[in-house]
Amino acid sequence: MIIRGILGSPRLKGKCSKLLQEVLNGAESQGASTTRIDLIKCNIKHCMGCCRCMTTDPELEIGRCPLKDDMAQLLELYTKADGYVLASPVYDVSISSLMKKFLERKLPLFYRPKEAYATISAPRTPCAFKKKTVMIVTGNCGDEYRELMGDPCFEMLESQLMVEQIETIEKLYVGGVENMTEETFREKLQYAHHLGETLVRRIIAEGQ
Ligand SMILES: Cc1cc2nc3c(=O)[nH]c(=O)nc-3n(C[C@H](O)[C@H](O)[C@H](O)COP(=O)(O)O)c2cc1C
Repeated sequence: MIIRGILGSPRLKGKCSKLLQEVLNGAESQGASTTRIDLIKCNIKHCMGCCRCMTTDPELEIGRCPLKDDMAQLLELYTKADGYVLASPVYDVSISSLMKKFLERKLPLFYRPKEAYATISAPRTPCAFKKKTVMIVTGNCGDEYRELMGDPCFEMLESQLMVEQIETIEKLYVGGVENMTEETFREKLQYAHHLGETLVRRIIAEGQ
């Protein structure tokens, strides 16, 4: 089983990164093979809105984007996974622009002819919610601001995954990260580890 972690924080040694890694460690402890995609290290251009990836080549599992960067390879890795851990800091009451840019460039995973523009397209590789994901959002505002800070991020991430037929099994908001004591952060990491274990167990249980 393959679990991919996707980091939307530019800080590779930050709290978001550490929490993501701990979910992956938990997944590995249950026998999964894990890899991380640190988006800040990748060359991902802005979507230019031509929609060619979506409106042509219905037979392809991944549509062709005219932009030449790392995204084609990232989408190959993305589709060859059983589960995901998406992690983003809250930036201006939303996910980071790094994560958003990646989400926009997942458009090649859908096919929709021009005459069906007003509809939501089916994924090119439907997975019937057998793939699952854990989401982590970190923010400087405390846990009591989860609704204000975390939920807009979760909604943005989850709506994409719903269309891809991927089930979200947990949305972890970790607030107050900049002033958090080491002890509290250790507890959050422990919980993140447990989430990784749960993710793998759920995929195994429902895949049978
Ligand atoms: C540009 C910017 C905007 C931010 N906006 C918010 C915000 O709206 N709400 C919030 O709770 N924290 C906000 N923060 C704090 C980050 O969410 C916090 O520093 C981050 O989650 C820590 O994760 P990291 O260690 O991976 O960088 C912002 C930080 C930056 C740099």
